[in-house]
Amino acid sequence: MSLEGSFLRVAQDAAIASARTIGYGQKMHSDHVATEAMRATMDDVPMRGRIVIGEGERDEAPMLYIGEEVGSGAPGTPEIDIAVDPLEGTNLCAKGAPNSIAVIAASPRGGLLHAPDVYLNKIVVGPRARGSIDIRATPEENLRGIAKALKRSVKDLMVVILDRERHVSLIESVRSCGARIRLIGDGDLAPGVAAALGGTGVHAVMGAGGAPEGVLTAAAMRCLGGEIQGRLMPARDGDEERLRDAGYPDLDRIFHTEDLAPADEVVFCATGVTEGSLLRGVRFFGHGSRTHSLVMRSKGPRHIRFVDDIHLNDDFEGNVSRY
Ligand code: FBP
Repeated sequence: MSLEGSFLRVAQDAAIASARTIGYGQKMHSDHVATEAMRATMDDVPMRGRIVIGEGERDEAPMLYIGEEVGSGAPGTPEIDIAVDPLEGTNLCAKGAPNSIAVIAASPRGGLLHAPDVYLNKIVVGPRARGSIDIRATPEENLRGIAKALKRSVKDLMVVILDRERHVSLIESVRSCGARIRLIGDGDLAPGVAAALGGTGVHAVMGAGGAPEGVLTAAAMRCLGGEIQGRLMPARDGDEERLRDAGYPDLDRIFHTEDLAPADEVVFCATGVTEGSLLRGVRFFGHGSRTHSLVMRSKGPRHIRFVDDIHLNDDFEGNVSRY
């Protein structure tokens, strides 16, 4: 599977479309334009693709719904499973707040878990702390394990947690053992990826976020050698039934990185929408735009590429160097 270039374009187009709506205060609209752009570009990808994580079930999403067939569909092209979040952090984009991104992950058929849209209570760490966490342990125990693996003290750690009522006791526990916390309003996928990249200042992500975001995080961890562990967590009306119907009745089951993204071969692409600590946001100028993306794969040449692309409009005539 060598479709990174095509998937990069898919993420970039979603990012550029949604970035046009930054700060408009219309998160549904921002999500819609990102989805539309992603869906349109997807048709040109030479694959027989199938959405496994998307915008919702067939009856609730007009496009990029779970089970939708995407790609050129040409005979002989690879059969690919696709997980997307055309705009991760819809509120962030609507408010012009940092760290919203457009994301796509892909694998051969069966390589990404069809996670239902419930919460996944999770911990994410980078490669050096791999093997030091256990979702069944207390936050204190996990932080001690992470600190030991990173050869530093707990007070030197930075943990990212979604600022939610459900995390009050987690936040208390993390504070009481002295680790530092970055509370975020939305968007726990980008910090998960950051935890697995050196020099970002993020050492772990803890707490419950969307299970679909958990699968995308796992895809990134397969490429980066990091680790995610989680347990599905029913929180809203109908969640338990949804989990049973999806074949996950056991709420004690622990999902490891390889359960969420079992494929050996995974491709992950993300493009920044608003400015962020992992990726820069889309910048527009008179004749086009400039995007910043992360592109990586779990197999073959293990390049982790940060791609800084300038996209010129068709009418551009002039000197590109000034951009
Ligand atoms: P959207 O992009 O769909 O708005 O999701 C953003 C997000 O913050 C995710 O990053 C996170 O996993 C999830 O929502 C948390 O859900 P909730 O807002 O219900 O706590």
